Amino acid sequence: MELARFLHGSSDARTGGQTLTHGRAYEAFGTVFFGGRRGPVFRRLAALSGARPGDRALDVGCGTGYLTRCVAHAVGPTGTVLGVDPSPDVLAHARRRAARHPHCTFTDGIAEELPGPDDAYDVVVSSLMVHHLPEGVRARAAAEMFRVLRPGGRLLLADFRPPAGPLARHLVGAVAGPVMQHNPVHQLHPLVREAGFTSLTSGDLHPWIHYVHATKPE
Ligand SMILES: C[S@@+](CC[C@H](N)C(=O)[O-])C[C@H]1O[C@@H](n2cnc3c(N)ncnc32)[C@H](O)[C@@H]1O
Repeated sequence: MELARFLHGSSDARTGGQTLTHGRAYEAFGTVFFGGRRGPVFRRLAALSGARPGDRALDVGCGTGYLTRCVAHAVGPTGTVLGVDPSPDVLAHARRRAARHPHCTFTDGIAEELPGPDDAYDVVVSSLMVHHLPEGVRARAAAEMFRVLRPGGRLLLADFRPPAGPLARHLVGAVAGPVMQHNPVHQLHPLVREAGFTSLTSGDLHPWIHYVHATKPE
């Protein structure tokens, strides 16, 4: 259960959700957990988001900024990407790792109350964040993603997909805790649809990711 505590960090008073600490250790864990496929999976998520050169992008629950940096690459130096997370530890790590990308910045914030005005972004991405939120605030977070996207803007929401087999699932529970063992990833689709998004598509990326892509109607 120590690993579960490490993965889901400490409680944040603003959200009741679990924030991450220990950015460097999380990075090492991510490399092992994805069995060397973290780079291809996250680059694929950035591509699936539809981020293009010049876009303004937002990464919600950015953690150490791995996906943020992939999206920074996609939007290029004429675009911007802002990573938002409530954990000072991971934000410090994210800033250090993105030092070579001046158009990639980070700020303190929570998914349920995103920084920035309405219609401010072309693309919103979020990976492995929703399962950190208490169920009661997930709809609020999706509504915020909808609010900050411009009409026609694109959302890519990805989260941990527990293994199908009972034994492997049990193992995930023993190692990473019940939150990940039972993560109701099938609820991402209705969460996004009920926030007002349209043109939903979804899929899985080996080994652990389920994603939903959607558009804010014009
Ligand atoms: C498992 S990490 C994923 C980090 C990163 N997106 C990735 O894919 O590696 C989940 C992140 O969500 C953040 N988080 C927790 N509660 C949050 C909230 N209410 N709003 C935004 N982020 C939150 C945690 O601090 C943590 O950095």
